Amino acid sequence: MLIDSHAHLTDEKFNENRFDIISSLSKNNVEKVFCVAYNKKSIKEVFELSQKFENIYAIIGIHPEEVDDFDDETIQLIKEYSKNSKVIGIGEIGLDYHFRKDNIQKQKQIFVEQIKLAYELQLPISIHNRESTGDLLKILEENKQFLTYGGVLHCFSESVEVYNIIKKFGLKIAFGGTLTFKNNVTATKVCEIANLDDILIETDCPYLTPVPFRGQTNEPKNVSLVAQKIGEIKKLSYDTIVSKTTQNALNLFTKASLNGN
Ligand code: NI
Repeated sequence: MLIDSHAHLTDEKFNENRFDIISSLSKNNVEKVFCVAYNKKSIKEVFELSQKFENIYAIIGIHPEEVDDFDDETIQLIKEYSKNSKVIGIGEIGLDYHFRKDNIQKQKQIFVEQIKLAYELQLPISIHNRESTGDLLKILEENKQFLTYGGVLHCFSESVEVYNIIKKFGLKIAFGGTLTFKNNVTATKVCEIANLDDILIETDCPYLTPVPFRGQTNEPKNVSLVAQKIGEIKKLSYDTIVSKTTQNALNLFTKASLNGN
């Protein structure tokens, strides 16, 4: 069965059908969903969702667009929640220079603080990167001693060269719906050459809906379309991609394999 390794089921777009989506996961061959937080409010919501539903796991942290939410209270919250078996990683953390460039120093500082926090809590990280690749690689290089518990560059859209660099840090990559978009030459190339052991799959729902459902709200079940696409690109069977990516997700987010089925 599939794992959606990066979803935002706490998003308000799911307010009407969140329960229906979660209760139909196994029917849609989705075994587990890793729900990712981005600000203080969503850390609480993601945690609560993971406590309510067996197949939902929590990845908690502050997104680069929400760095003003990173304070002592947030750090305490993350530390406290991390003791729980359903909290499996720190994320999404990273850099985003698309919307804001005025707070770059703060983004970098809080990214580093969260990398160290994850190390202290012995948890892997889920990394967000948008238009900030140079600084991201520099920070990872400078802090590679804190990457012991691994991590994943979510919605990977960088070059083969960048893949080869982050591979040296022991990090993994995750493909989402964007891999299915026409003309996504870069991601297709990375997918082609990447070691299958390095690949996770995700939806990043409600965003980035894969072909042929673009325009609709994305859902965890659409992670199957990403698996299918990887199979086409790598000329491997759908079943191989499903079982490998599920294993990869559990190998990285080890706490998710200690729970339930
Ligand atoms: Ni996301």
